Amino acid sequence: MKVDVLLGLQWGDEGKGKIVDVLTPEYEIVARFQGGPNAGHTLEFDGQKYVLRSVPSGIFQGNNKNIIGNGVVLDPALFKAEIEALEKTGHDLKKRLLISKKAHLILPTHCLLDACYESAKGNSKIGTTGKGIGPTYTDKVSRNGLRVGDILHNFDEKYEAIKSRHLQILTQYRFDASSLPSIEKKWFEGLAKLKEFEFVDSEHYINKASREGKKILAEGAQGTMLDIDFGSYPYVTSSNTIAAGACTGLGVPPSGIGEVYGIFKAYCTRVGSGPFPTELHDETGDLLRDNGHEYGSVTGRPRRCGWIDLVALRYAIMLDGVTQLIMMKSDVLDTFETIKACVAYEIDGKQVTDFPFDVENGIKPIYKEMKGWQTDMTKMTSEEQFPEAFRAYISFLEKELGVHISIISLGPDREQTIFRK
Ligand code: GDP
Ligand code: IMO
Ligand code: MG
Repeated sequence: MKVDVLLGLQWGDEGKGKIVDVLTPEYEIVARFQGGPNAGHTLEFDGQKYVLRSVPSGIFQGNNKNIIGNGVVLDPALFKAEIEALEKTGHDLKKRLLISKKAHLILPTHCLLDACYESAKGNSKIGTTGKGIGPTYTDKVSRNGLRVGDILHNFDEKYEAIKSRHLQILTQYRFDASSLPSIEKKWFEGLAKLKEFEFVDSEHYINKASREGKKILAEGAQGTMLDIDFGSYPYVTSSNTIAAGACTGLGVPPSGIGEVYGIFKAYCTRVGSGPFPTELHDETGDLLRDNGHEYGSVTGRPRRCGWIDLVALRYAIMLDGVTQLIMMKSDVLDTFETIKACVAYEIDGKQVTDFPFDVENGIKPIYKEMKGWQTDMTKMTSEEQFPEAFRAYISFLEKELGVHISIISLGPDREQTIFRK
C-alpha cells in the first residue's frame, strides 16, 4: 500500500489540519514528516477547537497510530504543553503517538539563537516564528544536532557540549541569554514528559505497515512556497515542505508515494516577511483578513492577504506532483461582488507564467476578474447546491491548474466539507 501525502501549496495555513482530520478515518497511520512547532494546525468539531503544533492531526478519529517522523524537529517543552492540553480534554495519546528516534530536538539555546539571528538581520528579518526551527535544522545539517534517540545515551554530556557552543555564539553577538535557566527548567520538564512516549525507528515501522497493506497519510507542515529549496528564499522555513520531504522525513522511497493531496485557499495569505506578488494593501485585503479570521494560530500575527496566485500554485503543483486538489475557505469570498485570480506576472513588460527566480522586485500580477457568487455557502452539503458563479470559479481553476479539485471546504468545522466526484 502506497503512502499518501497531504501538503500545503501556498505559504502555509491553508487548512491542512482540518483536512487531515476529515480524511483520518480512511487511514491507519498519520505521520508528520517535517517542520516543528512553527506549525499551527487548527481543527474544529463538536463545537470544540484544537490547535496542534507537533502532534499529527490524525489523533481525533478512530484508533489509528500517529507518528512524529524523523524529519520533524521537536521542542520537549512545547510538546509537553500540547500533550497536557489534549489530556485535559480527554485525549490520552500515550499508546497512539510514536516518536522517531531520529527526530531532532530543539534545544533552549536554539530558540535564543533564532531570536539572536533575527535581530542581527535588522531590516531583512525573516519574521520567523521564534521557535528555534532554523538553528535546529542548521545543527542537523552541520552534524551537531541532538536527536530523540540520544535522550537514552549520555544525554547530559552531549547537551552541555552543544549548549556551551551555542553560548559562545550568543556571546559573540552580545545577545542577552539571561532567560536561559528558566527556559531550561521547562525544557527538562518537557523532556521527562517526552520519555513517557514510545521512541521508534519510524522508517522501519512505516515501511513494514505499508508492506502489510496499512493505509498511511503523511501530513506536511508549512507550504510549498516556504520550502527551503524552492520557496521564496531566504524568506522560507528550514525544511523541505514539498512532497519529496515526505520521503526524506519518513524514510519512504519515492516509488512508495501514492496520492498527493495539495491544499490551497481560494485566495492567498502569508505570515512573516518575503515576496507576495498578489498581496493587497487595501480594503479588499482587510476584508479577506476579517472574513477569514486571518491571524496566526500560533503567534496571533495578522496574516498578509491577497488574491489567489495561479503562477505560484502551478509551480507548487509541479514540484509536488499533486494528484488531487483541495480548495479551502471559499466561503470567505461569499460576499464578494467580483473575484480576481492572478494568471500571469508581468516582468519588464513581458508576460511570465513560470514562477521566476527573483520574486522580490518589479512583478505586476495580471488578473482575470470573475463574477462573485454572493451566496452564503457555509451550510451547503453537496455540490449540487453550489451557485453557478462558484461552479464557474471551480471549472476555471481546474482548467488553469490541470488537476481535479476533489474536496471543497466551506467553513472551519469538520462537517463543512464537500467531496466532489
Ligand atoms: P494549517 O496550518 O494549514 O492547518 O491551517 P491553520 O489552522 O493555521 O489555518 C487555517 C484556519 O482556517 C484555521 O483557523 C481553520 O479553522 C480555518 N479554516 C479551515 N478551513 C476553513 C474553511 O473552509 N473556511 C473557513 N472560513 N475557515 C477555515
Ligand atoms: P503551518 O504548518 C505559515 C513562516 C514564518 C516565517 C518563515 C520562517 O501552520 O502552515 P520559521 O519559524 O519556520 O523559521 O519561520 O516561515 N512559517 C509559517 N507560516 N504557517 C506555518 O505553518 C509556518 N511555519 C513557518 O512565518 O515567515
Ligand atoms: Mg497553521
